[in-house]
Amino acid sequence: MADGEREQAPKGIDTTKPNVSRVYDFMLGGKDNYEADRQMAHRALEIAPDAPEAARANREFLGRVVRFLAAEAGVRQFLDIGSGLPTQGNVHEIAQSAAPGTRVVYVDNDPIVLVHGRALLAVDEGSTTVVEADLREPDRIIDHPEVRRLIDFDRPVGLLMFAILHHLTDDEDPAGIAARMVDRLAPGSHLAVSHFHNPGLAYPEVSRQAFAAEKIFNETLGTGRWRTREEILAYFDGLDLLEPGLVPLPEWRPGSGDRAVPGITYHTFVGAVARKP
Ligand SMILES: C[S@@+](CC[C@H](N)C(=O)[O-])C[C@H]1O[C@@H](n2cnc3c(N)ncnc32)[C@H](O)[C@@H]1O
Repeated sequence: MADGEREQAPKGIDTTKPNVSRVYDFMLGGKDNYEADRQMAHRALEIAPDAPEAARANREFLGRVVRFLAAEAGVRQFLDIGSGLPTQGNVHEIAQSAAPGTRVVYVDNDPIVLVHGRALLAVDEGSTTVVEADLREPDRIIDHPEVRRLIDFDRPVGLLMFAILHHLTDDEDPAGIAARMVDRLAPGSHLAVSHFHNPGLAYPEVSRQAFAAEKIFNETLGTGRWRTREEILAYFDGLDLLEPGLVPLPEWRPGSGDRAVPGITYHTFVGAVARKP
């Protein structure tokens, strides 16, 4: 099977090692993953059997946030960093159905995301594009000509960082990078983040699960930090947090169509949205 899969993989894509976007695709029930990704996913599932529900709760959170920003907060341009493989309910589909003409730039440093993203978006170059760039170089993202083609940084931007900042190490200074990105946005811009969370002594059992998951992620993918509430709140320094603040994903303005139910709390995955004053 592995040989056959290598034949089917897009050129230049290494399928022998697990990879963040493809493991996540597997958790969401997608088909753009390979044997090494599935093996890693199964290790993670042993200690966190609810990981597929958590991934789905993250997509539902993303959907509610993008709909709110486009339909209610008047955001007409989105920069989605660490956008991942196309799936159901992509940002441009949600934003453009709420507000036609909304511009969306997807950014990811994984070449496989570019291959699949370009195929999906080939028809829509006027309002949606996908760019290969690395969040660890925030100024290069903002100054990228393809980003500039669609995003006007003198006007409010919806900066989306869903499930990406926890893939930066502490040494890479994720809070400093988020601050640098936000610094270059116009007032009225919004920052939305979802992030792996370690609740510590508040939920010792969940905290142990978070440490165990962190170990597996780092051994196999080389990244993954379940940060504390204070560490995650630091991404929003200087911004106005919108209600209900930083909460488990299903608790952020739940919608009637969601499968993840508030009350079954997901304390290892939290999110928030904030506005730049
Ligand atoms: C778990 S997926 C999240 C996808 C989507 N944002 C979501 O929440 O459904 C994380 C994505 O971030 C990308 N990524 C990780 N580190 C990155 C970096 N330093 N720069 C750009 N993208 C990165 C990965 O390639 C992957 O596609």
